[in-house]
Amino acid sequence: MAVVMSILAQNISNEVCIIDANEKLVNGESKDVQQGSLYLRDAVIIGNTDYKASEDSAVCIITAGERQKKGQTRLDLLKTNVKIITQIVPPLVKYSPETILIIVSNPCDILAHVAWKTSQLPLERVFASGTHLDTARFRYFIAKRLGVSASSVQGYVIGEHGDSSVPVWSAVSVGGIRFRDLSKCAGAEGDTDQWHEVHNQVVKAAYEVIAGKGYTNWAIGLTVASLVSMILDNKNEVATVSTLAREREGIENDVFLSLPVVIGANGVTSFIKLQLSGLEQELLCKSAETLNKAMQSLKE
Ligand code: 2OP
Repeated sequence: MAVVMSILAQNISNEVCIIDANEKLVNGESKDVQQGSLYLRDAVIIGNTDYKASEDSAVCIITAGERQKKGQTRLDLLKTNVKIITQIVPPLVKYSPETILIIVSNPCDILAHVAWKTSQLPLERVFASGTHLDTARFRYFIAKRLGVSASSVQGYVIGEHGDSSVPVWSAVSVGGIRFRDLSKCAGAEGDTDQWHEVHNQVVKAAYEVIAGKGYTNWAIGLTVASLVSMILDNKNEVATVSTLAREREGIENDVFLSLPVVIGANGVTSFIKLQLSGLEQELLCKSAETLNKAMQSLKE
């Protein structure tokens, strides 16, 4: 619902269909939002338990599944949520064969890989929100420390959307100035200004919100809505989302993880080649290995 409201309130689309197995809930939610359509440019919001209601959707976003409980990692949700993904994807794609699938349910990297295989859609049209949210948190925490707008901070978090994510300090810039020219050791050995603490904040962010309110929804809703806008408005913006990373940035594993890619009307159209430091390359390969192990566990 945070995704729905982020899309509608920012006028990214004015036609949203909500599918849920719980008929009472989906009717209640869709009616509640629909009754505010005077303030949403007469948007049309449909709620249904039948996937047919989602027919010909340009974008399908999957958020269904167990969410992290206090102390749980995202990878802990894999066994339960992979079953839900394999149930949801076929009917979604049956009614919207031209759709672009965005997987938000966690562990989103692995679930996107499973969704791609299950859907048989072209690779560019299936990805996970991945570290698009971690990148937003990373830019926010840096901006907060510097007292500037997050829109003036460029930078990426790549790899797993989870505990093994990788901050790419070598690519951070503030107001067009390379951050490494301002703080030579940021995030690396000799980081006397403790900039590595910013990435710790990113990794801890969801756990802290979950400890407070039991789940996260607003930041992920806004970041997913921004991806929908890149697709519907063919923005060709760069975002770190999770797609097949084999043979990219020295990764040999057959895994989905986040790298900076260009997103437009056809989904993931191209990759941005990073100039990773030795440490960043090492951490990215570790993240790929973590995801590979989890993916292999599905075969056990
Ligand atoms: C988060 O980090 C939901 O995994 C998502 O908030």
